[in-house]
Amino acid sequence: MTRSTPLPRACAASAGVNFALVKYWGKRDAALNLPAVGSISLTLAGPGTRTTVAFDAALDADHFTLDGVAQADAGVVGVLDAVRAAAGVDLRARVESQNTVATAAGLASSASGMAALGLAAWGAAGLPVEAPATQPALVEIVRRGSGSAPRSLLGGLVELRVDDASVHPLAAADAWPLAIVVARVGRGPKKVKSRPGMTHTAETSPYYAPWIEAHPADLAAARAAIAARDLPALGAVMERSTLRMHACMWAADPPLRYLQGRTLDLMDAVEGLRDAGVGAWYTMDAGPHVKVLCAADDAPRIAAALAQVPGLAAVDVCHPGPGARAEVLP
Ligand code: DP6
Repeated sequence: MTRSTPLPRACAASAGVNFALVKYWGKRDAALNLPAVGSISLTLAGPGTRTTVAFDAALDADHFTLDGVAQADAGVVGVLDAVRAAAGVDLRARVESQNTVATAAGLASSASGMAALGLAAWGAAGLPVEAPATQPALVEIVRRGSGSAPRSLLGGLVELRVDDASVHPLAAADAWPLAIVVARVGRGPKKVKSRPGMTHTAETSPYYAPWIEAHPADLAAARAAIAARDLPALGAVMERSTLRMHACMWAADPPLRYLQGRTLDLMDAVEGLRDAGVGAWYTMDAGPHVKVLCAADDAPRIAAALAQVPGLAAVDVCHPGPGARAEVLP
C-alpha cells in the first residue's frame, strides 16, 4: 500500500551520543553496513541530537536543516527512503535537526543524529516508536545510516552483537554512577570519515586480521566487568580496545592517524591521575578528543586536572543517559 495523502502527524525524536568502550572498526558487509566486530558503549545524557520529521504532500523534495542551516545530505535521504519503503509512504519530508554536540568531529554526532532521524521518521510515517531497539527493521535502517547509531537507541551500557547486529542493554543509565569527562582538542571536522577510514584500514593494515581475532576476548572481559560493576577492569579493557583499534589504523598504508600531540598529553594526564590513585581511563575515536571514564563522584576533580593541559577547546562532564525517545506531535 502506498500513501500519498498527508500523514496526520510530525514526530520529534531525541537521542544522546554514545561512546564505545569496546570499539567497532571494520565491516563484514559494506553495502549493508554490517560491523565486523561487536561493540559495547555508554549512551550519554546531554550531548546529542533532536530531530523533527514531517512528511508533507506539498513538498517535491526532502528538505533537511541542521542547526537551522539547509543541507544536502545523501545519508539523510537514504534513511528517509528506507522508512518510506518500510511504511509504504511516498511523500517527501521536512527534517529539522539540532545538535548539542560538535558535528563530524569524532564526537559521535553521527550516532545520535542517525538514531534521532531514524526514530523520528519512523514515527512520522505512522510506525510504532515504543521500544525502538526491539524493532529489527528500524535498527537496520539506523545502522545503515551509521554503524554505531543503533547503540544510541538504548540508554546506559549497551552491546551491539556482531552476529545479527542487534542491540541489548547491559546496564541502565541509573544502574551504575559513572561519568565521562570529554576533553576536546580543537574544533574542526575530522580529516577522514569513519567509513572510508575503515575500508582503508581493512584493505591495507596487516594488523586488521589480528584486531578482529583479538576482539571477542575484549567484549567478554567488558561484559564480565560490567556484570561485576568492576570499574578498574572495565577501564583497562576500554584502553586496550582503544589502543588496539588505533594501532590497527596506524599500521595502514598510508597510515591513518586521528590522535594528535595534545591527545597524548591528555593520555599522560590520565595515567598520572591513576598513578595518584584516581580511577580514570581514556578512550579516543575517529578524532583527537579524549573521553575519560570514571566514577561520577571523581568527575569534577578529573575535569579540573585535565583542564590544566594546555591548548584544549573544552572539558565537559557527561553522565549516562536514556535511549532514544520520540514524541508524536499534534
Ligand atoms: C571509532 O558508526 O561513525 O567511533 O558505520 O561507517 O557510519 P559508520 O561508522 P561510525 O564508526 C564509529 C567508529 C568509532 C568506534 C565506535 O563508535 O565503536
